Amino acid sequence: MVVWSFLLTAVTLLGPMVCGDKIKVSQHCATSNSSIDNVYPYAEKELNSSRTLRLSKFNGKYHELNALQEEFANDLAILAFPCNQFGQQEPGGTDAEILNGIRYVRPGDNFQPNMTLFRKIDVNGAKEHPLYSYLKKSCPTTRDFFAPASRLDYSPMRNNDIRWNFEKFLINRKGKPVKRYDASSRVSDMRDDIESLISASL
Ligand SMILES: *[C@@H]1O[C@H](CO)[C@@H](O)[C@H](O)[C@H]1NC(C)=O
Ligand SMILES: *[C@@H]1O[C@H](CO)[C@@H](O)[C@H](O)[C@H]1NC(C)=O
Ligand SMILES: *[C@@H]1O[C@H](CO)[C@@H](O)[C@H](O)[C@H]1NC(C)=O
Repeated sequence: MVVWSFLLTAVTLLGPMVCGDKIKVSQHCATSNSSIDNVYPYAEKELNSSRTLRLSKFNGKYHELNALQEEFANDLAILAFPCNQFGQQEPGGTDAEILNGIRYVRPGDNFQPNMTLFRKIDVNGAKEHPLYSYLKKSCPTTRDFFAPASRLDYSPMRNNDIRWNFEKFLINRKGKPVKRYDASSRVSDMRDDIESLISASL
């Protein structure tokens, strides 16, 4: 299962060289809390082409999940729950707004999700969905820290809260949670677990 909204994958951009007396080979970047806090909303024309490319197209998360759903079409159901509690990345109010956001904005490029999408829910806080209360009770959190409070849209905060968009739970055929994956996890981190669950249940 997927806590849906939008994942921040690393995108590396090359910038101009800065010259000075002291040069550092690299510098960590600050996390900002302005309304644009990642590169995905930006778009620009491709060199020597008429195409405009939106950077969200390069956010691999959705495409990975689509590919995973196709690969294990008979043995795995990916269920995605949109949620607007992390960085307000899923503001769409209506079903159509959420679907259009996926199709045209993130990841865009006419993306058709082939996982099952549910209505938008709360996964943390006073009005969290009972499904998520159960999942969080069953599996310990993957992080001992939280995103800055200004980016979290819920209260109260609890230890086993979902930490960010795209946290995932693997559920077996009997409906029992088996493993919880951090928001930063990739499909490759999960594939072995999925395969061993499938072969164990054959
Ligand atoms: C984030 O927002 C808070 C108040 O809203 C402000 O004090 C802080 O400087 C901001 N941090 C950054 C990195 O912009
Ligand atoms: C620019 O694009 C055109 C049309 O696709 C192509 O014919 C041409 O070779 C390209 N120019 C360069 C320098 O790649
Ligand atoms: C899954 O999505 C891809 C496009 O991303 C599409 O080509 C494929 O037919 C879909 N598969 C299913 C089973 O819906």
